[in-house]
Amino acid sequence: MQMKIMTIVGARPQFIKAAAVSRELRKRHQEILVHTGQHYDYEMSGIFFDGLEISPPDVNLNVGSGSHGTQTGAMLQGIEHLLLAERPDWLLVYGDTNSTLAGALAASKLSVPIVHIEAGLRSFNRCMPEEINRVVADHLSNLLLCPSDTAVSNLAAEGISRNVRVVGDVMLDVLNWARARAGAKPPEILNRLGLKRNAYLLATVHRSENTDDLARLSHILNAFNSLDEPIVFPVHPRARKAISGADCRLKPHVHLIDPVGYLDMISLTGSARLVLTDSGGLQKEAYWLGVPCLTLRDETEWVETVEAGWNTLVGSDTERIVATVHSFAPINSHPALYGDGRAAARCVDLLE
Ligand code: UD1
Ligand code: UDP
Repeated sequence: MQMKIMTIVGARPQFIKAAAVSRELRKRHQEILVHTGQHYDYEMSGIFFDGLEISPPDVNLNVGSGSHGTQTGAMLQGIEHLLLAERPDWLLVYGDTNSTLAGALAASKLSVPIVHIEAGLRSFNRCMPEEINRVVADHLSNLLLCPSDTAVSNLAAEGISRNVRVVGDVMLDVLNWARARAGAKPPEILNRLGLKRNAYLLATVHRSENTDDLARLSHILNAFNSLDEPIVFPVHPRARKAISGADCRLKPHVHLIDPVGYLDMISLTGSARLVLTDSGGLQKEAYWLGVPCLTLRDETEWVETVEAGWNTLVGSDTERIVATVHSFAPINSHPALYGDGRAAARCVDLLE
């Protein structure tokens, strides 16, 4: 039976996840793709719809940026209105952003069943806005699709065990799609940026803990300045603003560039000697691509990458970051993590 599914996306990693799931969903069902407008710059939004061949959003709520309450409130109002008009069989949300929270809240009050993809992730740090969003979304969801057994255990510890399934990570599906698309061609972006394979570091920083706290941000930037390898740093708009306020002059080997599209990002990641990041998605992509990762945080949700020996938590301490960039060497074993790259099809099967 064909179902009507309303999907909520709004932020960069959600467009990427939707690339895999929408493709599967639309083979058999009607999808109404709702973009909240949380991310709106072309390099943060449109570039992913174009590069990953995602159907354009059916609706864009254009909420834009704002405080958590203002932004989430505007989304809540817009999504409620759409749910009342469309009465979908399911509301689908991804991950842990304010768009996720608003979608889950709006649907729960209207008794529209909610499916949460990337359920059960926890940092156990309630100072993170994402932790609040994911805890609430999980507790409101009717079907919880997890990337790992750890996520299932996290949910069980909060008393959630019904309709919880492990499907793997839909980001691996997207990565495999992109690799097949890129084929064996040498990545053109390396030439464009004058980079050599295995001879540069890739950095991203955007978490509120690192961008809103100027001391932490300065420590991270000082570490970048103290390194002697080229660093390519696609800058999230939030970090761009924070860096300009941080009074830190970056040395010429630190190349700040605009955010890049997904295929370019995967090329940059796969060819880097090492990744430095506070991104959730990038920690996993570095792992899948066999690139060591230093996570610029004090905890991670993606604990399996650390346990496997390919990711390590370095926080924001300048000396620790510099020393670990020089010393970190993963062991040879590289177990498969987060499924087999067929998570999206499993999500759709379980919805059915
Ligand atoms: C959001 C998510 C975070 C996710 C990240 C992915 C929340 C609470 N946070 O963080 O979990 O990891 O997206 O990238 O939902 N801005 C622009 N142009 C844009 C988008 C944002 O200039 O297209 C600037 C604005 O100044 C805005 C700031 O970035 O205030 C932060 O954007 P926002 O969406 O609130 O949070 P992110 O840091 O992007
Ligand atoms: N990404 C991208 N271009 C960039 C930076 C990141 O395509 O300039 C991709 C990255 O490869 C990963 C996703 O965006 O797939 C991660 O998004 P982000 O770091 O914004 O959010 P998080 O995963 O931390 O929620």
